[in-house]
Amino acid sequence: MGPKSLMGVDIGGTGIKGAPVDLGAGELAEARRRIPTPHPATPDAVAATVAEVVGHFDVGGRIGCTFPAVIQHGVALTAANVDKSWKGSDARTVLEQATGRPVTLLNDADAAGMAEMEFGAGRGRTGLVAMVTLGTGIGTALFVDGVLVPNTELGHIEIKGRDAETWASEKVREDKGLKWKKWAKRVSRYLQTLEALVNPELIIIGGGVSKKSDKYFEYIDVRAELVAAQLRNEAGIVGAAVAASKEA
Ligand code: BGC
Repeated sequence: MGPKSLMGVDIGGTGIKGAPVDLGAGELAEARRRIPTPHPATPDAVAATVAEVVGHFDVGGRIGCTFPAVIQHGVALTAANVDKSWKGSDARTVLEQATGRPVTLLNDADAAGMAEMEFGAGRGRTGLVAMVTLGTGIGTALFVDGVLVPNTELGHIEIKGRDAETWASEKVREDKGLKWKKWAKRVSRYLQTLEALVNPELIIIGGGVSKKSDKYFEYIDVRAELVAAQLRNEAGIVGAAVAASKEA
């Protein structure tokens, strides 16, 4: 049996959030600590902030950490919405050196999806499940009978000749002041395209906007069952700790 609680950290464009996670309950064991993301958000500056967040808690062991990019063997391969200096960097080693602890590093949407599959809207679900996070960008996580297919990056599929996340993300809704209905039609078109490619049975919508599903779900027309994520803002932190527990 693994440890009962582990540190989860969620690295985002605006904030770096972390807390010890109760792995039995799938909940934060203590109130989370959030520090604004430093600017420029270079690997060294971000790693120092992660160390500060982690240092706030008295929980040892492996740290699970999310990052909004493709992560393979601890290396960040992309940098769509983050400082370009991350691309090709050995991010996991930078984080391990700053914290002095072993780190499990994974894509942010993959982490949120893992949390939902273990403790939230995807619990016990088989077949193909797609988690779609609507935030600054669009993140995706695919699960086949509960097993993650990592780094799918389906938020970048092309719609009307453009990268979907630059047209249908939550940031676009906010920046352009789009009405819920107008934005929801874009999300609907995006999800239909995703559906035509991978045919999920269940689509879980995550990101901050998941808690406002009553404002836009009615305009979304997809074949799959559509549900809002249940872990809300904490999915990244919880999922990071879940991923770390599998390596601890
Ligand atoms: C990135 C993904 C990330 C998503 C959500 C996209 O721009 O390419 O790796 O999961 O944003 O943060």
